[in-house]
Amino acid sequence: MSESPSSIRAYAASLPLPDERIILGCGGCSVDFLATVDSYPNPDDKIRTTTFKLQGGGNAGNALTCAARLGLTPRLIAKVAEDAQGRGILEELEADGVDTSYLVVSKEGNSPFTYVIVDQQTKTRTCIHTPGYPPLVPTELSQSNLLSALEGARIVYSDGRLPETAIVIAKEAFIPSALVSFILKLPNIRFVIVTLGEEGSMMIEISVHGEEIVDLHDSQSEEMDVDYLLNSLKQRVDNSNPMRECVSSKVLFWNLISFLNPDNANMLEYLEIACNDFYPNMRLKAQGIGAVRGRFLLGTAEKIPSSELVDTTGAGDAFIGAVLYGMPPEQMLPFAATGAARGCRALGARSGLPWRTDLARFFNQAKHLGFVDDKEVTEVVCVVVVFRI
Ligand SMILES: Nc1ncnc2c1ncn2[C@@H]1O[C@H](COP(=O)(O)OP(=O)(O)O)[C@@H](O)[C@H]1O
Ligand SMILES: [Mg+2]
Repeated sequence: MSESPSSIRAYAASLPLPDERIILGCGGCSVDFLATVDSYPNPDDKIRTTTFKLQGGGNAGNALTCAARLGLTPRLIAKVAEDAQGRGILEELEADGVDTSYLVVSKEGNSPFTYVIVDQQTKTRTCIHTPGYPPLVPTELSQSNLLSALEGARIVYSDGRLPETAIVIAKEAFIPSALVSFILKLPNIRFVIVTLGEEGSMMIEISVHGEEIVDLHDSQSEEMDVDYLLNSLKQRVDNSNPMRECVSSKVLFWNLISFLNPDNANMLEYLEIACNDFYPNMRLKAQGIGAVRGRFLLGTAEKIPSSELVDTTGAGDAFIGAVLYGMPPEQMLPFAATGAARGCRALGARSGLPWRTDLARFFNQAKHLGFVDDKEVTEVVCVVVVFRI
């Protein structure tokens, strides 16, 4: 599927791209039967659609399609059956630039599909999913195939809804504490994000800097309760700003410095550099759970006028597709929210997924492309966890 005429393609090609573009995704890809209705039916009603669309879906399929449109080289591990729907799924992914050579195609059974009822009145999307059969089992992926899929991959994304995660979230009164709790359970993850629909998103970026540096200055390092931090960050969000914003715990600290030294720009600069060395991150404490070292970030969602909000199906997938691009967090959250908001303006998960040219200003503004500390993650495949609740 082509984005546009050649002049736009040339413009897209002129935008900067990260060097490492391969990502590996694992999870669902399916067909969506999207039925838009004036209002949600009552049991036993007979109603008509106002619009109908048949389109690719599935969390991993959508997120990787978004990543491909943004210029990355995604590979997908998933399973479909050798039926008409399965063939359609493969064709659509390939047309969008997703590498499907690692997909398992079953001779029998059925490909996954979902009925999606999009209610124009309440702006909700109700999904009725039929999983693919037979399901993917680990033995269907040979070790050599898996290693080859991982070759050169910088990020691995799995769309598993992680039932354990849902339990953690459900048990915690506050989401920030749940994020800390989750990080403590999976200490190798790089960052963790939770998306909250029109409420935006929250993220903890875990420090991967040498712990010895931090330990050396431990007594001086900032410690903050995450719930308190969330409230402080919320107060810093400019609600009148229709643009996407990201406020982070580091910014809070910078502001403290500028408060102390309002007039002395050189001193400020010096202090910022010094603090960056001494306080790369804060200790983020969750009452009764534990602490992690990192940064807490809050991202806002775009305020979409009701007349423009068509369908939020796949909003989370579009958000994740943009996260996979691997921008530094302060740029990543507004970038992902803008990509997701574009997706909300069209019917279905795939139609509104952004292309590079739609988000051009982010690429042009990005101070550096790729993860902030590129050198530190070259040998490690970075695992990103995004929950959606
Ligand atoms: N109604 C909305 N208005 C503006 N942005 C939205 C809306 N719904 C979702 N988004 C954007 O998409 C992101 C993911 O949405 P979310 O609803 O959490 O995912 P899901 O697709 O799992 O329901 C949000 O963080 C936000 O940036
Ligand atoms: Mg939603």
